[in-house]
Amino acid sequence: MARFYLTTAIDYVNSRPHLGTAYEKVTADVIARYRRLCGVSTHFLMGNDEHSQNVYQRALELGLEPRAFCDQMEQVFREVWAKLDVSFDDFIRTTEDRHKLAVTALVQRIADAGDLYEGEYEGWYCVSCEAFKPDKDLVDGECSIHQTRPEWIKEKNHFFRLSKYRDRLLQHYEATPMFLQPDVRRNEMLRLLEGGLEDISVSRTGQSWGIPLPFDPSRVVYVWFDALINYIAAVGYATDDERFRAWWPADLHVVGKDITRFHAVVWPAMLMSAGLPLPKRVFGHGWVNWQGQRMSKSLGTSVDPLDAADRLGPDPLRLYLVKEIAYGHDGDFTWERFEERYNADLANNLGNLVNRVAVMAHKYRGGRLAPVPGAISQLADRAADVVRRYRVAMDEHQLHTGMAAAFDLVDATNEFITRSEPWVLARTPDRRAELDQALFEMAEAVRIAAILLWPAMPASCTEILRRMGQVGPISEIRLDRDTTWAGGERQIVKGSLLWPRI
Ligand code: MSP
Repeated sequence: MARFYLTTAIDYVNSRPHLGTAYEKVTADVIARYRRLCGVSTHFLMGNDEHSQNVYQRALELGLEPRAFCDQMEQVFREVWAKLDVSFDDFIRTTEDRHKLAVTALVQRIADAGDLYEGEYEGWYCVSCEAFKPDKDLVDGECSIHQTRPEWIKEKNHFFRLSKYRDRLLQHYEATPMFLQPDVRRNEMLRLLEGGLEDISVSRTGQSWGIPLPFDPSRVVYVWFDALINYIAAVGYATDDERFRAWWPADLHVVGKDITRFHAVVWPAMLMSAGLPLPKRVFGHGWVNWQGQRMSKSLGTSVDPLDAADRLGPDPLRLYLVKEIAYGHDGDFTWERFEERYNADLANNLGNLVNRVAVMAHKYRGGRLAPVPGAISQLADRAADVVRRYRVAMDEHQLHTGMAAAFDLVDATNEFITRSEPWVLARTPDRRAELDQALFEMAEAVRIAAILLWPAMPASCTEILRRMGQVGPISEIRLDRDTTWAGGERQIVKGSLLWPRI
């Protein structure tokens, strides 16, 4: 059976998730749900990144043990992911034993390969990025991402021979054009590689919060070197060889554009050094912006995902994030735009359509619909074309294009209703068959659209499918088999308005 191992970035837990962080998890969830719908055995990993200095400092401020603070924050994150219906299969924390064992083993393997050496690091360090900052990355002396002044650091550290892997990385980019998507990110990384790589410091001195280096327990592993290893730790590296062989390499790492370099340069070099296969793809998504700025807790520009989900519902929020922001690019969130899209796409369009179909099915046929034998369907070709375009887009992670394709079918069905005028057919007894066929077609088209939209709006589309006569569990629906135009009789169920207009 085909398999798909998908991961997101693991989050720093010094503050609650905001809508930008949630965006990444929701889009990855749409990908995971799409793959499951395709019948692919999918493993979707998320988790928390706990060994950062900010996490440690926040715990101290609250008078808590860092680990106890991380335990509390795990619940905060899990609550948000549950509310947004994010269907991860595993959730890893970097303070877990399975992660520590994997970090210790991989770091030792990299050392055994001769790729670690001792040296002195002197330079700027941004605690919010948890990254060393060359002068060229500073704007007026501040970190360009966090707009804060980095710390000057001078310490004896262990360095990873990243520079040694530059040529192999370039070859890999050459040989595997899809390794990093979208193209803007790929071009950025190619330019970086062409400019040459410097070795990086991978330990921190004078800190106790972290995983000790196996060969120098007085120092801890640098938080990024530690965090990246979660992707192999979660599938059994150093703890369960069989499981590791079954799932590694990952099919897709979904990460934000600010951390593409760690995933598309540092991480593959670490794996090359350890002699392990590289992930098949990295997708660097864009920012969710708020009033023209990246949404961020530290910048004071964040929206709480729970507030947004409470306002109009988790599914409308998910749809907004996936459909309104071209995947790979930046996009805005505003309350006005969110309400506008809710009214346009859901209240007036899809919700209204579901309601009209159910009301007409009951008014004219007691809810029982069946196609007319031999009748030529007017929507079947359109549906087939939409499904084809949807699949091409979703396979390439063009999530917004996939959603737009699904809405084409919704539009086509609304137009079909206007054109076929079921209320006129109902007044003419000798057009009975035409009415049967028209009612059947609109219900069938809505059923197919609901399957296509299910990865983005799982709860609502499950309900739409139930109303359109779906029997049996949603988990058994398969995209290829169940989105072909079907001919069976069905019982339509009426219900309250899914999305009342605001
Ligand atoms: N802990 C590291 C990742 C380690 S992965 C081995 C980290 N954490 S984070 O909490 O700062 O960010 C988590 C993810 O959220 C990152 O992929 C980041 O790019 C993403 N986002 C943070 N703000 C965002 C927006 N405003 N919009 C979209 N994504 C955002 O980095």
